Parts: sequence; structure tokens; C-alpha cells
Amino acid sequence: MKNIVILISGRGSNLQALLKARLPCRIAAVISNRADAEGLAIAKMHGIPTEVVAHRDYMDRDSFDTALAKIIDGYQPDIIALAGFMRILTATFVTRYHGRLINIHPSLLPAYSGLDTHARALRDGVKIHGCTVHFVTPDLDHGPIIIQAAVPVLRDDTEQALAARVLREEHRIYAQAIRWLCKDKVILNEQGQAKLRHRKQSGFALVSPGLE
Ligand code: GRF
Repeated sequence: MKNIVILISGRGSNLQALLKARLPCRIAAVISNRADAEGLAIAKMHGIPTEVVAHRDYMDRDSFDTALAKIIDGYQPDIIALAGFMRILTATFVTRYHGRLINIHPSLLPAYSGLDTHARALRDGVKIHGCTVHFVTPDLDHGPIIIQAAVPVLRDDTEQALAARVLREEHRIYAQAIRWLCKDKVILNEQGQAKLRHRKQSGFALVSPGLE
């Protein structure tokens, strides 16, 4: 069974969804860069070892990432999942975990990389928004895509309502992506593409606001 280490910075709802999903891997540890991350309590409740590597204790990104990698490597993970981990990682760190490091992002990448994705989507008036699980590469939020979920943006959506609709899908697709990784059904190939070995595909179109 593969080992997975999950990195968080806050609330931990994705972590909770992954715990609930009964993944076919061992969650070896949950690591946070903030001691006050609510997700740490969720991990503890499930009897999962937790660690804090506080970025404020380090002079620069390189020394923080080196300390973080040392802790991660102690758990010998096959997969490292960023679940609301709010630090930008150095190219050295990302390259060390090539093909093993994944992230969940609250937009349909490559649209809306970075922060405030829901507010920006609302401002632009897009009618379809969503979330993405991707392999992490040094190009921030632009690594090869494993799976995406799209949701409609509704007429009277607030940022909170839209965020909640996207978050529900994050919880579903992150568990799916990790299940595939655990079973070697998705790999990052030599051409730098995410290759899926499963055949099932859905041909349904999401039309928003819908045809009459
Ligand atoms: C999620 O929206 C995730 O996509 C983003 O940060 C948020 C973390 O939420 N990277 P949670 O801590 O998993 O509840």
C-alpha cells in the first residue's frame, strides 16, 4: 500500500474529505506550515501523525523547503498532496517530488491561477467555473492536469455560494485523483503529460445558464 503525506495550511475540509473517502493508501502524516491550522485537529482525531514546519521560523524559501522536505522524507511518501497549502514552493522542492506531488486548485486551470479565483470569476461574468487537480511543476498552478470538475455560475451567486459549490466538487475529484495515483492509473510521463489508464469518460456537456 502506498504512503501519502498531506500538506495543509488551514481549514482542512479537503483533508477531511480524503479521510472520509477511505483511500486505498496509508495517510502517513499531515504537515502544516501553521500551528493554528484547523486541519491539524482533524488529523489528530483520526489518529494521524501531525507535524508543524512554521515558515516564519526560516529565513527564506530555500531553508523552509529544505526543512519541510526533511520531515516529508521521514515518512517515505509515494504521494505528497497539497490540500490548501498556501506556500509557494521552490523549483528545487518541486523537482525533488516530480510525479509524486499534486495540488487541488479552485478554478478550471489554466484560467484563474493564483488567489481569489471565485471573486475573479464572478467579476468576469464567466458562466462555468470549477476546480482542478494537477501535478505540481515549477510553473505555479500550471502543472499537467489530472482531473477537473465544472460547476455553473448562477445568476445571483455570491463569492461564498460559488466557493461552496466548487468546494463540494473539490472534495470529490481530489479523492478520485488520489485513488488513481494509488492504483497507478495515472502517471506523469516523460513528455510531462498526465496519462490516465482508465477508459471511462463522460460525454455530457455542461451548458450554463442552460438552453431553452
Ligand atoms: C481549497 O479551496 C483549495 O482548492 C485551495 O485552498 C482551499 C483549502 O480549503 N487550494 P481546505 O483547507 O481544504 O478546506
